[in-house]
Amino acid sequence: MVMKSQDKPSILLVENIHPVAKEFLEGHGYQVDLLSHAPDEAELIQLLPRYCAIGIRSKSELTAKVLTHAAPTLAIGAFCIGTNQIDLAAARKMGVAVFNAPHSNTRSVAELVIAEMIALSRQLGDRNSKAHQGDWVKSAEGSREVRGKVLGIVGYGHIGSQVSILAESMGLQVVFYDAVKKLPLGNARATTSLDELLSVSDFVTLHVPEIPETMNMIGARELRRMKKGSYLINASRGTVVVIDDLVASLREKHLAGCAVDVFPVEPASNKEKFVTPLQNLPNVILTPHIGGSTEEAQRAIGLEVAESFRRFLKIGSSSGAVNFPNVDLPVKQGTSRILNVHRNEPGVLGEINTIISQAGANIEAQFLSTDAEIGYLVMDVHYSHADDLASRIAQLQRSIRTRVVY
Ligand code: NAI
Repeated sequence: MVMKSQDKPSILLVENIHPVAKEFLEGHGYQVDLLSHAPDEAELIQLLPRYCAIGIRSKSELTAKVLTHAAPTLAIGAFCIGTNQIDLAAARKMGVAVFNAPHSNTRSVAELVIAEMIALSRQLGDRNSKAHQGDWVKSAEGSREVRGKVLGIVGYGHIGSQVSILAESMGLQVVFYDAVKKLPLGNARATTSLDELLSVSDFVTLHVPEIPETMNMIGARELRRMKKGSYLINASRGTVVVIDDLVASLREKHLAGCAVDVFPVEPASNKEKFVTPLQNLPNVILTPHIGGSTEEAQRAIGLEVAESFRRFLKIGSSSGAVNFPNVDLPVKQGTSRILNVHRNEPGVLGEINTIISQAGANIEAQFLSTDAEIGYLVMDVHYSHADDLASRIAQLQRSIRTRVVY
């Protein structure tokens, strides 16, 4: 079947996605329907056939079964960071691209880390609780400025590098350690090892992904390497730090405090009780995984995924898709663009080019990107009957989806 983007210009957004996404997509000519709740399987199966794209957050589950009812659906947007709620492999096999917004909350996390450095060095959490309880603890002991101190950043990616810039502007000296070579920003300096970073830093902040290599990355050995009286901040993932070892280090007064936003086990909802061995220790700031939870981040997520929809639906650009070969070809005036998703087996491109040359059409630009299972082909052709060409390409046995976007 050949699909044109204008055949089904309706998009469904569920789970109270920020209104900016609807506004943006309507501005680009789509009909946008909203649902405030997360539809269950039966409702999704009923809804999906009506939409060319669906936007969800973390609670709607797009399983393989649900996706088999998504014949007209071209794109799925996870208006959040995680994509575990979507069967990515099933979507890929059907030629459905999945987008998310992994970096819309970068700045929010970076700002929280900066706040926590100052809060830890002035014991703000404890002083605040005491004042609420009626205790007047006016003392300079153990309170320090952050100016001139050394901040060690583990993982110098999107968040780590933002923290670096903000920290330098407050007069901290920044060192960082990353598994890959990174360009130091400002006056920051890369250390040669994690151990070196730990041994020179007054604050250590973690910004690595949750992967096998970072599991328990900071345990008893690493904590011992940290300077006495230094602070640890973890707003990355809970599995990166061995919590019991961190508790031991705090009890021994080796570390002077820590701020932790993420935990190995976190409550599934705000109704569940939260328990951690870090509770009720002095100068320990605990937050419920709110590093990226700001109104600005929600808005940025809404815009980022909506823009991914627009680019994919209107011009076929799949850059940023998490389950799909990434192709981003500039628009060529005076041509028609045909998009084809096919099973990645030898000879498909040859078959497609034969169809085009037999029709006497001229290929102006062609870009193929593949992964182990599928190929994504973007073609700009000079031909007045692009729809006919696309119909013939769609009939190839290994074609999964073919559409003409303009
Ligand atoms: P990113 O992918 O941009 O950066 C991660 C960096 O860590 C990369 O430079 C990578 O090379 C480096 N890295 C990977 N393995 C490493 C290792 N073994 N040792 C040293 N460096 C290593 O990721 P981004 O966006 O900066 O996010 C970082 C972390 O923050 C992630 O774990 C993410 O899940 C978490 N996060 C937490 C939020 C919260 O609400 N607390 C919100 C957003 C992200």
